Amino acid sequence: MSLLFTPLTIRELTAPNRLWVAPMCQYSVDAEDGVPTDWHHVHLAQFASGGAGLILAEATAVVPEGRISPQDVGLWNDEQRDAWRRIVDAVRARGGRLGVQLAHAGRKASTFKPWADERGTVPAGRGGWTPVAPSPIAYDGFATPTALDEEGIAAVIAAFAGAARRAVDAGFDAVELHAAHGYLLHQFLSPLSNERTDQWGGTLQNRARLVLDVIRTVRAEVGEAYPVFVRFSGTDAAPGGLEVSDIAQVATWAEEAGADLYDVSSAGLVAHQHITPGPGYQVPLAAAVKAAVSVPVGAVGIIVDGAQAEGILAAGEADVIFAAREFLRDPHFGLRAARELGEDPATVWPPQYIRAAR
Ligand SMILES: Cc1cc2nc3c(=O)[nH]c(=O)nc-3n(C[C@H](O)[C@H](O)[C@H](O)COP(=O)(O)O)c2cc1C
Repeated sequence: MSLLFTPLTIRELTAPNRLWVAPMCQYSVDAEDGVPTDWHHVHLAQFASGGAGLILAEATAVVPEGRISPQDVGLWNDEQRDAWRRIVDAVRARGGRLGVQLAHAGRKASTFKPWADERGTVPAGRGGWTPVAPSPIAYDGFATPTALDEEGIAAVIAAFAGAARRAVDAGFDAVELHAAHGYLLHQFLSPLSNERTDQWGGTLQNRARLVLDVIRTVRAEVGEAYPVFVRFSGTDAAPGGLEVSDIAQVATWAEEAGADLYDVSSAGLVAHQHITPGPGYQVPLAAAVKAAVSVPVGAVGIIVDGAQAEGILAAGEADVIFAAREFLRDPHFGLRAARELGEDPATVWPPQYIRAAR
């Protein structure tokens, strides 16, 4: 049996393999009410019959002002929870497992969806709003955010816990807290976006306070049996920004706070970042975090076939492989990887598709 198709148990979740679908925003809520639609239903369910060990639903806002775009999904109310429940059921009916990424976009909120004709912040009056952030420092080309006060920070923590509660109630198998890609929790972590002088800014420990408080509060809300993952950017890839040693340190604290797995990506905080994407380009960041912690770590970024994924696990650089774009190119990437690695088709392929496995 390959390492990629070896099950992984995290608290009450057992994923049948280690090739997982990374979260991917669909910007497809036309009613702008945060309720997932038929698009999300088909989009996510297709991966369940494609051999993915676990699927993570896209960045899902914990409050309306935490959406990246007005077309983002949310989990801040029960109508959204009930719509998600139907999608969870559809995934489960196909033998899949579904987690959800809980997110707050902070200063990168209220932007036009990627394929709109316009760029930057959607103005108030056209469905947009003034974003919030640790400090009133704009992301390049976006509106200047309002700095959160103590009450606002407490509300963010409570909103993550409320969304996590709805995720459990909707039947999701896990939550992932989005602390990467320059969104709110990452904005607090990085000195490039956090210039606060109170307990939420300054030292790394102070800048990490929000993500750690969110993890602790979510853990208390969901209980000991439920898996809580965290996505970090392993580097800001910009002068004066976070480096992987900082994230490895935060990850050790986060483990004590109750995190079960790290999904290590990179960058997204500032426009002047320097990254050179290529095959497996973020794997060294995952490996560096893995060396510092005892919980499993996921690698992501241009991992496109079974042999490459297997090689990363065999080298001990990660415990799980996340893939995003390869699952868009081929929603059955998991079935293809199983075939490539010589897995018994009967253990991975849906019986309805088995005639294509040989
Ligand atoms: C369409 C699309 C939407 C994405 N949305 C999210 C998201 O909601 N949350 C997130 O953390 N990353 C998001 N990402 C980043 C992916 O999860 C992944 O980290 C990145 O694409 C690199 O992996 P890949 O080379 O396998 O695509 C998105 C990527 C794509 C292509």
